[in-house]
Order: sequence, then C-alpha cells, then structure tokens
Amino acid sequence: MKTPDAALSAFLDASRERLEGCLDHWLPPATRHPANLHQAMRYSALGGGKRIRPTLVYASGQAIGADPALLDAPACAIELIHAYSLIHDDLPAMDDDDLRRGKPSCHRAFDEATAILAGDALQSLAFHVLSTHRHEQLDAANRLHMLDQLAQAAGSRGMAGGQAIDLAATGQQLNIAELEDMHIHKTGALVRASVLLGALCGCTADDPRLEKLDHYAKCIGLAFQIRDDILDVEGEVDALGKHPGMDQQREKSTYPALLGLEPARQRAQELHAEAIESLTGFDESADPLRWISAYIIERER
Ligand code: IPE
Ligand code: IPE
Ligand code: MG
Ligand code: MG
Ligand code: MG
Repeated sequence: MKTPDAALSAFLDASRERLEGCLDHWLPPATRHPANLHQAMRYSALGGGKRIRPTLVYASGQAIGADPALLDAPACAIELIHAYSLIHDDLPAMDDDDLRRGKPSCHRAFDEATAILAGDALQSLAFHVLSTHRHEQLDAANRLHMLDQLAQAAGSRGMAGGQAIDLAATGQQLNIAELEDMHIHKTGALVRASVLLGALCGCTADDPRLEKLDHYAKCIGLAFQIRDDILDVEGEVDALGKHPGMDQQREKSTYPALLGLEPARQRAQELHAEAIESLTGFDESADPLRWISAYIIERER
C-alpha cells in the first residue's frame, strides 16, 4: 500500500496531467490572431503552478462519487480564473511582482496592457468552458448553479472583493477578524468553489454532504493563504517560483505580520484539524481531500 505522501503525489500527478491536456485543448493556439494575446494567455495558464484547485475539484468529485469525465471542465474553469487572478495580482498597480511560477510575470514577459487583457480573456474562457463542456451529461440546474457559484467566487463578493480589501489594507494594521475576512475572500472563495463544483458534478444542490464539504473547504482555503503568508517570510525563491519577502516590503497585512510565525503555524494546524473533522462520515474515497489538507499546511512551494 502507498504511504499518504506517495498516494498524494500520484493523485496530484494524475490531476495535473488531466488538467494540462484540458487547458491545452481549450486555450486558443498561440498562432491564432491576435497572437500576442493568445501567447500571453498560454504563457500564464500552461506548464506551471501546483494546480491545487483543480486537484481539489477531482478530489471532491471522487469523494461524492461523480463521473471523473465530468470533472475536467470545472477543474479547467477554476484554474483559468486562478491564472487570471495571478496575472492581475502581479501588475504594478497591485502587488508589482516580477516573478511568477519561476518565470517573468505576464506583464514583464509581454506588457501591462496585454497582461490585463490576458487576465480578462482567461476569465471569460473559464465561463465558456464551464458552460459548454459535456453539458449534455450534467443536469441543467446543476450546471447553472455551478456557473453561478463560480461567478460569485470570482466576483466582488469573492476573490476580486478580497483583492480590493487586500489593497485597502496595505500599510494598515488589521485585527485578526479583518485579516481572516480578507483571506477568506481573496483566496478562500475560489478554494471553496473548487470543492463545491467538483461535488456538484455528482450530487444535487440540496445534498447534505455539501455542507460538510463546504466547511472543509472554508478551513483549507484560509489555511492555504496562511501558509502562503508564512512562505513569503521563510520560503526560498527557487521552490516558490516567486520572490519571498515582498509582503513585508510592500507592508501587506499577513498572518505572520500580525501574529508572528509560530501562532500563524498553529492557526494553520488548527484549521487542518477542523478540516479533517468535517470529513467525518466520508469513507476512503475522501482520502485525497484529507491528504490535500495536510499538504496545504506543510508545503514548501
Ligand atoms: C498563489 O496561489 C496565490 C494565492 C492565492 C496564495 P498558488 O500557491 O496556488 O499558486 P500556483 O498556482 O501554485 O502558482
Ligand atoms: C493573492 O494573494 C491572492 C490572489 C491572487 C487572488 P498573494 O498576493 O499573497 O499571492 P502571491 O503571494 O502573490 O502568490
Ligand atoms: Mg496580492
Ligand atoms: Mg501577490
Ligand atoms: Mg502571497
């Protein structure tokens, strides 16, 4: 039998492979007019990143017993929204970061206007993929609910709203509730949507298991950003593929800045325990969700 680490690696590899093929299929060819825009989209969406959100789509779908073939579209859609959010997050008007996934950030490799448009276009493509792929096999009500959940998670009451809170909080001292609120929006919303969309491929919106999965997702979404904040303090550029130390330099509101490293680690550990607890009643088909929760608070990249 595989150890949890080996089993998680295998699950991550399989998810990544499925996702890369799906992204490559849906992204317009780099030669298609306007080529510069399509090159920028492919540059930022392909061949990098941990792909943790799509892996969550596959893991959540498995936990609920969904047909794996239905999970490719939501996995792809979520990762496209995430890729767009990273491009815009790195822009000079936001975090002004030059390095992303071990290579120059999109506005550095291309230019600012192209990076803005690539982000816009990746977001639109996400909804195109989700609304068209294998639509005949998914119940129409579920499909609409998935589209709505993704729209809300990406919008002003989700990720984009969280980014606005993040920018307003720069140079400010937040209290712990305000900091959690920011993290829950800017990162938690899309993590939550990943778990929910995977599950909605295999159950209806009133399935009682959704509440447990949603609680799991809330916990790991917050833990994910806490770990991201910790890695900005103690991570290595080669592993991270982005420059550490930028949060402090830019006076960002983070967990380590507010609480210190050790309490931040403890909070992440508590959230992991709570995430595992919320999966009580799920059998071993939910094990990948359990492994991912552990991975999120231990990861070095
Ligand atoms: C980085 O996300 C941005 C955050 C929300 C913390 P990831 O750490 O998932 O970035 P990639 O996709 O692996 O590059
Ligand atoms: C980014 O948070 C959150 C989103 C992109 C929505 P960060 O600004 O901390 O992410 P990194 O550290 O640049 O990846
Ligand atoms: Mg940011
Ligand atoms: Mg950033
Ligand atoms: Mg960060």
